Amino acid sequence: MQATHNPYNPGAGVPPPELAGRDALMEQARVAIARAKAGRAAKSAIMLGLRGVGKTVLLNAFEALADEQGCQTAFLEIDPDKPLAHQLAPQLQHILHRLDRLKKAGADLQKAFGHLRAFASVFRATISDIDFGISAPATGDLVVDLTELFLAIPDAAKKRETAIVLLIDEIQYLQKGDLSALIMAMHKISQRQMPLLLFGGGLPQLAKLAGDAKSYAERLFDYPPIGPLEAAAARQALVEPAKREGVGYAKDALDYVIEQTGGYPFFLQVWGSHCWDVATKSPISLADAKRAGANAVAALDEGLFKVRLARLTERQKSYARAMAEFAEEPINSSNVANALGLSLSQAAPIRDELIKKGMAYSPERGLIGFTVPMFADYMRRAMPANAAAKKKR
Ligand SMILES: Nc1ncnc2c1ncn2[C@@H]1O[C@H](COP(=O)(O)OP(=O)(O)O)[C@@H](O)[C@H]1O
Ligand SMILES: [Mg+2]
Repeated sequence: MQATHNPYNPGAGVPPPELAGRDALMEQARVAIARAKAGRAAKSAIMLGLRGVGKTVLLNAFEALADEQGCQTAFLEIDPDKPLAHQLAPQLQHILHRLDRLKKAGADLQKAFGHLRAFASVFRATISDIDFGISAPATGDLVVDLTELFLAIPDAAKKRETAIVLLIDEIQYLQKGDLSALIMAMHKISQRQMPLLLFGGGLPQLAKLAGDAKSYAERLFDYPPIGPLEAAAARQALVEPAKREGVGYAKDALDYVIEQTGGYPFFLQVWGSHCWDVATKSPISLADAKRAGANAVAALDEGLFKVRLARLTERQKSYARAMAEFAEEPINSSNVANALGLSLSQAAPIRDELIKKGMAYSPERGLIGFTVPMFADYMRRAMPANAAAKKKR
């Protein structure tokens, strides 16, 4: 089929040609945004799922919904090497300037600007000059200062009949203190029913939350699990984009692709794209789909998977390879240690390195899995020798 008309869009955070299977989540977000804007109680949500399930796409879609409803939004992708204050302050400044444009600085906005200036100064965050705003105190305690700032901003938004919607991606990369401060600040916001909503996305490992913040967080947010698409939605994700170009799929071809991809959105885009490239006529046949599947696997091996493996040190590779011996993820990390012939305390640092590198995640204590679906299959293809060595033992 003509490459110029290939409708599929594999990539990180890129909009799919058809946002399949997410109607309920979109509707929940739409309702929460409308409620917040109307000054009603609304629940923030953190979407948890593996790489390639469509979290970033959903956050972008929620941002568009918020924009449509006239809310003020800020989108942050958490950088593990920067404190939250540095990442948040410039974004909040943009929001305040937009509020200022809606209605010129009243006392409320002066106060919010004052809090932001003090916040940026005490946490050494770079923002552009603010030449107005009354001076406000900052303590240097992130929980206190972030809460003050978080209360001041939606207060100014409320008077302008709008709401603030924060979208935070890769939320698992937040440093622990930052995460609990964010949760405590959101807790205050919800108690006061202020129009500030947070939608987050991240790997399913927020379990590392500790203490007070954790018990608040459990009640404060919804945690919709984001996973592969159900068969009907997966079919829709493949069929609809092709249909708009006048191309169909044979039923067995569709079944094959859905089975091969496990319904994972990223893989559906990759497989769809290769089906399109391989097929010479409509409908796309099972033979096309099989050839496309082989091409898709080869392309992922050479691209995505290989790049990720190359980032690992030798001992991290061995750990990952040992993980791949187990059929069911997440795996008990003591089993991985055993397979490597290491004690738990010897293996633990390697496991932590893999988590830090974003290769693995720990949904709860003692469990570990790959962040990219199908990575275990790749490890077995890429390092077959290990399996043989293990059998000999
Ligand atoms: N609901 C969906 N239907 C079809 N394709 C989707 C859907 N959600 C995401 N995709 C596609 O999957 C890929 C990965 O999406 P992304 O949002 O980057 O995932 P994540 O942030 O969870 O890693 C992108 O190519 C995107 O277009
Ligand atoms: Mg993402």
